[in-house]
Amino acid sequence: MTTRRSDLSQRDQGGSNLDPHTVRYAARTIGMTASEIRALFAVASRPEVVSLAGGMPHLAALPLDVIAAEVGQLVASDGLTALQYGSAQGIPELREQICELMALEGIQAHPDDVVVTVGSQMALDIVTRIFCDPGDVIIAEAPSYVGALGTFTAYQAKVVHVEMDAHGLVPEALRAALRTEAGRRAKFLYTIPNFHNPAGVTLAIERRQEILEICEQFGLLVVEDNPYGLLGFRGQHYPALRSAEPENVVYLGSFSKTFAPGLRVGWALAPHGVREKLVLAAESAILCPPAFTQSVVSRYLATHDWMGQIKAYREAYRERCEAMLASLDHYLPDGCTWTTPEGGFYVWVTVPEGMDTKAMLPRAITERVAYVPGTAFYADSFGSRQLRLSYCYPTPERIKEGVRRLASVIAGELDLLHTFGSVHLRSLSGPQSPSPDTA
Ligand SMILES: Cc1ncc(COP(=O)(O)O)c(C=O)c1O
Repeated sequence: MTTRRSDLSQRDQGGSNLDPHTVRYAARTIGMTASEIRALFAVASRPEVVSLAGGMPHLAALPLDVIAAEVGQLVASDGLTALQYGSAQGIPELREQICELMALEGIQAHPDDVVVTVGSQMALDIVTRIFCDPGDVIIAEAPSYVGALGTFTAYQAKVVHVEMDAHGLVPEALRAALRTEAGRRAKFLYTIPNFHNPAGVTLAIERRQEILEICEQFGLLVVEDNPYGLLGFRGQHYPALRSAEPENVVYLGSFSKTFAPGLRVGWALAPHGVREKLVLAAESAILCPPAFTQSVVSRYLATHDWMGQIKAYREAYRERCEAMLASLDHYLPDGCTWTTPEGGFYVWVTVPEGMDTKAMLPRAITERVAYVPGTAFYADSFGSRQLRLSYCYPTPERIKEGVRRLASVIAGELDLLHTFGSVHLRSLSGPQSPSPDTA
């Protein structure tokens, strides 16, 4: 009986036989599509494939035995609070420690203005939730972090991309975007100033004040996403945008890259009124962030040489980045260019005109190397000549081998391109569309 009723409503309202609930979903789910390349990534996780795709930290650098002992002691001594519900804003000790950590980038903040979140991804979610109605505009760099684009889509916000160059976001391009009709409707600028994901570039210090002034002039809030800021290869720190403009910047931080992503501890630092709304949004989503993982992070910061650990991480990443840059230089055919990161996890590669990196991906995986096609990092299907490589996880030897395989795939594509033209290349791999949920 029930089945017949739902069959009827499917026929009437266009539901699918595979998912009888199709007709009930909210309009915002329309943009929540699985990437076409997700299936390829299942193959890419096989050991024979060198994955230069994912952004997984090099956790083997962590002293796991020490952390295991700390976690055991935490449960034994503070289990009754660490395993209990906590406050929606996060535990006070950790918020204080977060303020000390942000001081490294020139931020003076009060723990009352920090909201602990389940990774900075949740901070992105609640920031978007409190600011964006369907159809609102968000300004973001071109390209931008795929996870943020997914969140913006889920809230039915429209993304307007603004050009970057080797020194990060271009102030003049931002000004021009804000003068357009869409730009005038923008709610905030979403920016990753340091060791950008995916572009691998860092916003020049001279541009920072100018960008803040432009946002101030156009009445635009800044959302500064900074998970990689302490991972500069030379140990360099850049002044956070928030350090110069406490009232107009929401700053997002994370322990995912400097400690461990599995703990899912991040935070937002926000002007007072915004902070109140963020806490309410967090409460309605999750009641409170896990007291347990917050306590693990807090204890780690209190008892461990966490700066020494960050140094160990960034030295490993520097070595891997050098291996990647040297291999790109050695193997990639003429006409390819790439960025030179000074920290973080990623290199952004541009391939010659006429090539399509998404169309090329199945062939790369057949050759046992994986990357993320550039279209994943745009809301508007640009990026077909770009790809993101990450060097954070594989060893230098694997990176070298991965780049060698990638170079041979690119060379093969270029041969095809010269022989048949770009139309043929695309027709080999079916229809193209953006794929904003990879890596
Ligand atoms: C720029 C950027 N923002 C946010 C995140 C989300 O990080 P978290 O693990 O803290 O949720 C990532 C993860 O890769 C990222 O690269």
